Amino acid sequence: MHVINVKNYEEMSEKATDILVHRIHSLEKPVLGLATGSTPEGLYQRLIEEYEQGAISFKHVTTFNLDEYVGLEQNDSNSYYQFMNEKLFRHVDIAMERIHIPNGAALDLGKECDAYEHAIKQAGGIDIQLLGIGANGHIGFNEPGTPFSSKTDIVDLEKTTIQANARFFHSIEEVPTQAVSMGIETIMNSKEILLLVSGEAKADAMAKLLAGGVSEDFPASILNNHANVTVIVDEAALADPKQK
Ligand code: GLP
Repeated sequence: MHVINVKNYEEMSEKATDILVHRIHSLEKPVLGLATGSTPEGLYQRLIEEYEQGAISFKHVTTFNLDEYVGLEQNDSNSYYQFMNEKLFRHVDIAMERIHIPNGAALDLGKECDAYEHAIKQAGGIDIQLLGIGANGHIGFNEPGTPFSSKTDIVDLEKTTIQANARFFHSIEEVPTQAVSMGIETIMNSKEILLLVSGEAKADAMAKLLAGGVSEDFPASILNNHANVTVIVDEAALADPKQK
């Protein structure tokens, strides 16, 4: 694991932008794995700016998002589809047919999960997967206890995850209790992984990750077994939680 220490959220976003811009330039048909949440917003904003300045194009880019809430239609303002559209897609020249986000409102969710796995394979696999981390160590929506061998599946959200994400909804009751998430094995099959970690709410998780053990009780720990992981972490997320 290659760990890059940065000062703050802005610097984390800048460094991440540099890496993604470089991949978009150097790969003929870049396949990007994308994430939602607050962590990548600064990166997406900067990618839009790079596009507006003519520095990059998304014409040949294919994307696969990590996850989507079960039960939310694409046009629901809280769906990750809308999040991605608002934060990135509608501002750049990406082709609609190359955007992939699991459909959490599919009638047959099992089929949807299988089709998602198939689509990733068809695209030749993910070149670089962007990740955030949950305070409980989840990656995508794979909560503690998820088998490392998991593929894209319907997952139950932990109470703490529902609480953490309630800030995006009018009330906690509106937060779906399930999601479709790319599996841990699916994530690990990416050729490269870029994990962004910012803020003191992630300090505990970061300390656990850096401790180095690998356990299904802490999903992100599997990243220790991947050959090409870069972690960009800011000072607040590196503050030793025991010191507080
Ligand atoms: C969310 C998402 C994850 C994300 C994580 C952290 O629930 N499913 O993909 O990385 O939790 O979110 P944030 O970046 O808002 O802290």
